[in-house]
Amino acid sequence: MNTEFPRNFLFGAATAATQVEGGDKNNTWYAWAQKEGRIKGGGSPLRGTDHWNRWREDFDLMANMGLTTYRLGLEWSRIEPRPGVFDEGAVARYREMLEYLNARNIKPLVTLFHFSLPRWLKGGFEQPESISVFERFVRYAVDRLGDLVEDWITINEPNVYVVKGYYFGEFPPGKKSFPLAMLVYKHLALAHIRAYNAIHELCPGTRVGVAHHLRVFSPYSPFNPADAAAAKLMKYLFQDAIIECMATGNLVSPIGHNAPYGKGCYQDFFGVNYYTRSAVKAKGFADTVFEDAPVNDLGWEIYPKGLYKLCKEVYKKYRTPIYITENGICDAADSRRSRFIVDHLYQVAKLLDDGVDVRRYYHWTLTDNFEWLEGETARFGLAEVDFETQKRTLRPSGWLYSLISKTHKLP
Ligand code: FCB
Repeated sequence: MNTEFPRNFLFGAATAATQVEGGDKNNTWYAWAQKEGRIKGGGSPLRGTDHWNRWREDFDLMANMGLTTYRLGLEWSRIEPRPGVFDEGAVARYREMLEYLNARNIKPLVTLFHFSLPRWLKGGFEQPESISVFERFVRYAVDRLGDLVEDWITINEPNVYVVKGYYFGEFPPGKKSFPLAMLVYKHLALAHIRAYNAIHELCPGTRVGVAHHLRVFSPYSPFNPADAAAAKLMKYLFQDAIIECMATGNLVSPIGHNAPYGKGCYQDFFGVNYYTRSAVKAKGFADTVFEDAPVNDLGWEIYPKGLYKLCKEVYKKYRTPIYITENGICDAADSRRSRFIVDHLYQVAKLLDDGVDVRRYYHWTLTDNFEWLEGETARFGLAEVDFETQKRTLRPSGWLYSLISKTHKLP
């Protein structure tokens, strides 16, 4: 098999504003972290990696690594600190960042909503008005930054946001209601479509997509039909239904009532965030891990073949170019990350060989960061961060990834 990547294939890294920037108190995650016991180790996104001030150092690191694309997020609450009031200074900083990236031939891919909302948006996406409020923010951001950006992600992982925030109650706003979860799904789908149309109206020719969190769902006992049925249902509720709503505007059940909303195509690329596989047990509708499976520091199974399987599946269904918008491993010792990268990129090479149009790979993530509920304890970075001094040190796997990006082939 050919393990050389085409010259125009882009290798990059992905981050999210709330996880790295630091310094913003107007977002829902800062508020959420104030209650003791919620964040492992007790941190908050207020520190992050101080990227808001150290971004040049981080971008120079990427340039030296030979990365040619970077996925970054905008912090909505920073740009719009009060409803309808925009902070020109914050936008100017983002402009500076984007100009710096472009000058170094690192193509920006910008995320508009990645888990964290302005605190003033009461009720978040539970309210139908949130759709227009989001559109107003998107129009503002795209109007000010659109000349520097060719690719936008409207929403990151709608499924993780909804399931953790509205079903398990672990992420803000901490609710546990299936009907509410479905309502938020619906509003997110409509918000995506409105944003998709607005971006195209303001910047024709721009590419717009969603970063979907995809997992493989396998029956815990392969010969147990109940486990197999549970795995299928879980997959539909977690990812297939929301993907269909966002991609086509067809609000399938149980999110909508199959009422087509301007049925069309609302994605120019398909963003895949891939980490792991779930072993599903019908009993308790439980999402578990296979015994003896290789796992990362958080206990998630390391399953490279899943990346191939899922990309193949969504490509067959939607025929949209694929960007792998996240893929990475929590591995503080850096003892498995190099292998992880090679094994997953091997699957990407196989996809290319099989004619699947994968164009980019973004490793999650550039540096260690504020990893939501895991705080500063979960280490996903190609570079290690000492949060006290904010010193960055490229890990051996980071050197390896740099080599792959520079040579465009697997060692
Ligand atoms: C994804 C999130 C990202 C990060 C990784 C580890 O679900 O999009 O922000 O937390 O997981």
